[in-house]
Amino acid sequence: MKRGASVSMIKRRQFLGTAFAGMGGLLAGFGGGSSAQGMLARRPLGGVALPEGDPLDDLSVLRNESSDPDEFRGTLVAAPTPATLIPGTSTAMWLYNGAVPGPLLEFVEGQHVTIRFDNRLPLDTTVHWHGLLVPPDQDGNPMDPVRPGASRIYEFDVPAGTAGTYWYHPHAHQSVAEQVARGLAGPLIIRDDEDPLAHIPEVTMFVSGLRLDPNAQISANNAMDGMLGRQGEALLVNGGRRPVHTVRPGTTQRWRILNATSARYLRIALDGHTLTLVGTDGGLLAAPIAGLPEILIAPAQRIEVLVTLTATPNARYRLRALHYEPGFMGTTSMVRGDELLTLATTAEPSAAPALIPPALRPLPGLDVPGARQRIKLSQGMGMGMMGGGLPGFLINGRSFDMNRVDLKTVQGRVELWDIVNTTSMDHPFHIHGTQFQLVSREAAGVVTPAPYLAWLDTVNVPARQSATIKVRQTMPGKRMFHCHILEHEDAGMMGVLDVRPR
Ligand code: C2O
Ligand code: CU
Ligand code: CU
Repeated sequence: MKRGASVSMIKRRQFLGTAFAGMGGLLAGFGGGSSAQGMLARRPLGGVALPEGDPLDDLSVLRNESSDPDEFRGTLVAAPTPATLIPGTSTAMWLYNGAVPGPLLEFVEGQHVTIRFDNRLPLDTTVHWHGLLVPPDQDGNPMDPVRPGASRIYEFDVPAGTAGTYWYHPHAHQSVAEQVARGLAGPLIIRDDEDPLAHIPEVTMFVSGLRLDPNAQISANNAMDGMLGRQGEALLVNGGRRPVHTVRPGTTQRWRILNATSARYLRIALDGHTLTLVGTDGGLLAAPIAGLPEILIAPAQRIEVLVTLTATPNARYRLRALHYEPGFMGTTSMVRGDELLTLATTAEPSAAPALIPPALRPLPGLDVPGARQRIKLSQGMGMGMMGGGLPGFLINGRSFDMNRVDLKTVQGRVELWDIVNTTSMDHPFHIHGTQFQLVSREAAGVVTPAPYLAWLDTVNVPARQSATIKVRQTMPGKRMFHCHILEHEDAGMMGVLDVRPR
């Protein structure tokens, strides 16, 4: 099998080879949720324990096959792959280049990117470049599926000013939740030659969810998952469960933390430390925001934080995902807080903390808006969607239809979007092909302006609240906007924005 470059990149985890797993039976249950599978899936991890406490893995990095620095050329292969997550046991996963998570893609501003993609999955897929400003026909839209056994080339330029932390994942019609749950997602970083934080060592922490059945196989979604998003998953960081990250005391590090879970809100906090926020979805802020005891990372969002370790040698601190209540339609959630990783300091004498520049980059607000649009998130009547594909989660009263245009805009026009959540649970709202700015939030009639300017491609809209954003599309074509709880997206909480050329 022609896996060459990709297999050689897998150094961190042992896989059992490249033989295809028998996937037939595993397809059943996703999106449906028979009661037998549902019962099993309700029990997190079903009694099989993942090993914990290994050193935090370095991510495998996708090799640039081009020697021209202005170019990035690489190959991604999505394929069924058996993985050893538990010693002595094989878990049938769907992976990019055999890696958990998928390999890190590192591009530089100004580069021309060409990715050859092979679909060896038993179903349609696409690669969506979450948060990147790529042309619509290169963005892995559900209208452009790559069929099983087929290949395609994704090709785009990386614009100046887009340095930041992104990710890639499938966007095939109605099977995003399943494909991500089986392992298809990976980190992507865009770099800039003039990075004001280049002197600070950085670590990427890709947080994904994993839920196994008693046979150590990826458990199917149950009816509850269909409503709330996949629950009861173990949180993994760079593919490991509660890994240990060892650092010299006193050191300052820059952490890029990505929430690649289907539906988990990560309210992160580090014992004994505060966090300095320096970046969001679309890259650096104008200035660092220091002293934060916690930061909420909604599904699909990313942050960059600086952490300066205490001077204490041989200490251990937990990076936690604190309990967060996303509404869950009036019920109290079953989701508890969790530990993401352990930060351990070495026995070395304390290092000197890094100098943190007071300003990071100019971040101008988007222009005065030339139009205003209203996006209403609602639930359909009844609970009929639990068993099948009936519309349950709606935008402006409608369920997703890729052949329909739901909203129109003009290339380059700044707009205000009022995203109104009429439901009793939170929805992380995402727009393709753009980075937008939060203007204000509204809760019970009280409007609160955004505390700082930041580039976002996903904004959480809490239950019964609204968020107002300023947004602009720069390329003509069709863009998706949707809830990034993947089960909601698959169930129809998605629309098509038609960007008309100016
Ligand atoms: Cu992260 Cu429509 O995608
Ligand atoms: Cu996206
Ligand atoms: Cu949602």
